[in-house]
Amino acid sequence: MSMLKYVDRKNTDCAKWDGLEKSFSRGDLLAMWVADMDFKVPECVSRRLSEYIELGTFGYYNPPDGYYDAFIEWERKYHGYDVKREWMRFAPGVVPAFNWLVQLMAGEGEAVAVMQPVYYPFMKAVENNGRRLVNCPLLRTERGYEMDYEAFEETIIREDVKAFIFCSPHNPVGRVWKKDEIRRVLDICKKHNVYVISDEIHQDIIMSGHKHIPSATAGEEAGAYDDILVTLTAATKTFNLAAVQNSIVIIPDKAFRERWDKFAEGIRITGGNAFGYIAVRAAYEEGRPWFEELLGAIEGNYKYLRSRLEAELPDVRVADLEGTYLMWIDLSAYMDRIIAMAAGKYTMDPSAYDSAVTAIQHFMEDECGIAADYGTWFGGAEYAGCIRINLATCRENIEIAADRIISALKS
Ligand SMILES: Cc1ncc(COP(=O)(O)O)c(C=O)c1O
Repeated sequence: MSMLKYVDRKNTDCAKWDGLEKSFSRGDLLAMWVADMDFKVPECVSRRLSEYIELGTFGYYNPPDGYYDAFIEWERKYHGYDVKREWMRFAPGVVPAFNWLVQLMAGEGEAVAVMQPVYYPFMKAVENNGRRLVNCPLLRTERGYEMDYEAFEETIIREDVKAFIFCSPHNPVGRVWKKDEIRRVLDICKKHNVYVISDEIHQDIIMSGHKHIPSATAGEEAGAYDDILVTLTAATKTFNLAAVQNSIVIIPDKAFRERWDKFAEGIRITGGNAFGYIAVRAAYEEGRPWFEELLGAIEGNYKYLRSRLEAELPDVRVADLEGTYLMWIDLSAYMDRIIAMAAGKYTMDPSAYDSAVTAIQHFMEDECGIAADYGTWFGGAEYAGCIRINLATCRENIEIAADRIISALKS
C-alpha cells in the first residue's frame, strides 16, 4: 500500500495554495510554485508529534542526543559525510542561517557572489544586509547548465569577493554538481580566501543515476575546505517539514564556530522549538521508506511532464532534472506567440523591454491558470522565458498542468 498521501491543502492557511493573491493575479490558480509538497509527512513524524501533544506539557525543551545522532547517522549513511556533533548548530531555517552568515563572512559593502539563475533569497540576503551582490552566471549547455570557473575566479579577484553562496543541488536549474565541479569551484575559493556557504537543503532529492556530494567531502584530502566552509541543510525539503522551522548549520572550523556562537547568543537564537526537534528526529530515524517512495513519485512526475511537453511542444527546453523537485522549463522559443497572446488582450508594446516578463505572467496565469515561479525572480529579465514548476504534488495536478500549457501554446 502506498505511504504517500496527497492532501488537498486549500483553506489550511498554507502559503502555496492560500497565499496565491500575494504574488499572482488571482487565488484560484493551480499552485506549482512554493517549494514544499502536497503530501502528508511520514506516519512516524505525525505519530511522534501526536505523542508529544498527547503528553500535553509544552515547557522548555532540551534537544536530546537522539536528534543529533539521527542526523549524523543520516549524513554518514546516505552522503558519506562524517559530521561531528560539536560542529552542529541550530537555525530556524536555512534562509535565516545564510542571512546571518553573510554578515559574519563579509563586511558592509563587501562583495558576496552568487551564480544566477539561483534561489532568489540569496540575492535578498546580500542586499538586505548591506553587502554587495556580485553575480557570476551559470553557463547554458545543451541539456542544462554548468559553472563558469574562469569567470568566477576573475570576478573574485576583480570584485574582492569575501563570500560565495553555493546552491548544491542547484535550485532552480536542477543540477547535482559532480565532485570535480565542486572541487574546482571550492579550490578557487580556497585560493582566494573566500568563505563558502553551501546550501544543501535539497541534498536528498536526487534522481536516479546521480549522487549528491557534500561540499565538505569534495576536496582531495578530508577536511580540505573546513576553514572556509559552512554547510546548511535540513529535513525540510526531504520530509516536507518547513513549518517546524528546524535546520542544521555545520561549522567544522573552531574559530568560525566561536564567531557564530557569539552572533547567535547576541540575537538569542541558539535552539528551536520541541516540535521541530521531534519531527526531524523521527523523520531521520524512521522516514526512509516513505522518502524512497516519494523520490519515485517525483521522478515519475518529471518524466511524465517532460515527455508530454517535448512530444507536443518540440521547441520547449527542459533542463535535465538531476536533483530537487523543481523543474526548469524554457519557453523562450514560443515567446513571440506568448507576447502576441498577451498583446491581443492588453495594449502591450511587444518591443517594450519587459514585454516578455509581463507576457509570460499573462500566459501562465490567464491562459494556463497556473502559478509557477517566474524565471525573472531568479536573475532578472534574461530568464523571462523560463518558469519553475514544483513536481512534489499528485500526478493529476501534473497532468492538468501539462494539458493546460500544451493547449494554450497550441491554440
Ligand atoms: C536552495 C534553498 N535554500 C533554502 C530554502 C528554504 O529554506 P528554509 O525554509 O529552511 O529557510 C529553499 C526553499 O525553497 C531552497 O530552495
